[in-house]
Amino acid sequence: GDPMPDPSDLLEWYDRHARDLPWRVPPAARKAGVAPDPYRVWLSEIMLQQTTVAAVRDYFLKFTARWPTVTDLARAEDADVMAAWAGLGYYARARNLLKCARTVASEHQGRFPTDHATLLTLPGVGPYTAAAISAIAFDRPETVVDGNVERVMARLHDEHQPLPQSKPVLTRYAEALTPDTRPGDYAQAVMDLGATICTPRSPACGLCPWRSDCAAWDAGTAAELPKKSPK
Ligand code: ADE
Repeated sequence: GDPMPDPSDLLEWYDRHARDLPWRVPPAARKAGVAPDPYRVWLSEIMLQQTTVAAVRDYFLKFTARWPTVTDLARAEDADVMAAWAGLGYYARARNLLKCARTVASEHQGRFPTDHATLLTLPGVGPYTAAAISAIAFDRPETVVDGNVERVMARLHDEHQPLPQSKPVLTRYAEALTPDTRPGDYAQAVMDLGATICTPRSPACGLCPWRSDCAAWDAGTAAELPKKSPK
């Protein structure tokens, strides 16, 4: 295959196979006009930074039950939030979480900023998280690049240059593919493809909506990619 995958093939796949995650608006509801809650998108992205989806799920439900809005979280006691976070690890995230909630409450009227540059000013929000919030919560055509996305891009383009050296080129591939229609669903669709089909070992290429556009499928190299530089 010529490595020019069609984002709408992936979106069609996502409409049928999106993972059911508590911070998501399912594709059907999203199509019907239901917007995601930026607070829930932000909270999930912070929790997911160094933690798996499986581990995050229950913590996310516990936090949103106890603090349903960013203003509720902003008013919480530090000790209560730290105690609720216990077990998730990387406790600097929890301290930044509270700082960020208080900043959104006091400086942004309790509403998350929509644009990448303003999101970046928030405590604990780096380039990855700013792009994820802006794409997923506000449906802006931002490119979200995590390890899943890097793997998918390396395989689509049969990129044998190892990570981290290949990071810039993989990011450019990802940027070139990001569609203007449904960029939020698209961002989550690439993550789901990487998590469920285009997996690190034994990828399920037979089920992949992009197989016919995948250079690594043609070359038989999917399972070897991405290569990693020895540390
Ligand atoms: N990992 C990071 N963000 C995610 C999301 N929104 N859905 C699934 N996995 C993720």
